[in-house]
Amino acid sequence: MAFPRNTYDGKLIVIEGIDGAGLSTQTAAVKEALEHEGYKVCKTKEPTDGPAGAVIRLALTHRISLTAHSFALLFAADRMDHLHNEVVPELEKGTTVICDRYFFSNMAYQGTELDRAWIKELNRDCLLPDATFFLDVDPFVSEDRRSVRHRTEYFEKRETLARIRKEFIDVFEEFETRHDARIRTIRGDKAIMDVTREIVNDVSQLL
Ligand code: TYD
Repeated sequence: MAFPRNTYDGKLIVIEGIDGAGLSTQTAAVKEALEHEGYKVCKTKEPTDGPAGAVIRLALTHRISLTAHSFALLFAADRMDHLHNEVVPELEKGTTVICDRYFFSNMAYQGTELDRAWIKELNRDCLLPDATFFLDVDPFVSEDRRSVRHRTEYFEKRETLARIRKEFIDVFEEFETRHDARIRTIRGDKAIMDVTREIVNDVSQLL
């Protein structure tokens, strides 16, 4: 299986990790730093606010109940709409797109319950990112950060997060070896500014 390569003018940068890894903080900080260097950048996230994303949020907050399969399918559907409606139009304009979560989350989260090869197949028409940063935090640390936010969503149990972290590590190894993906793992226990600098330095090499 070959994921399509990005041939647009803009680069697609993905930030991944378990809940509480600081994805949205880093997405915003990296965008700001790159803009400061004069690049045209936009940030976006998955799940989105689109129709599939809206159903996903109902399930994440336990207002509806979905089977694991339909949940996985909805994340993939949300991603296809996101690519078509938001990501590709920006890439076409030459904008660097920084995406908070992408198909690696699909494989790592839903992969704890379902066959990962099937989830990979669902995502086979999604662009391979130009660079992906895995913010690797200890699930115990991420729990501390999340307790500040007082949220109880679907994937909040520490043991579950530890399994998801292992899935992420496996998925990234697979994408590096089989798909020649550019993956950088960054230890999330570093200072926020240092993580941002590491990402920006790496992305700058692509722009
Ligand atoms: P999250 O980034 O926490 O969004 P928000 O901060 O807006 O609530 O994502 C919500 C959850 O969805 C998070 O626990 C990760 C999970 N997720 C999947 O299980 N599969 C996926 O494909 C994606 C994109 C996210």
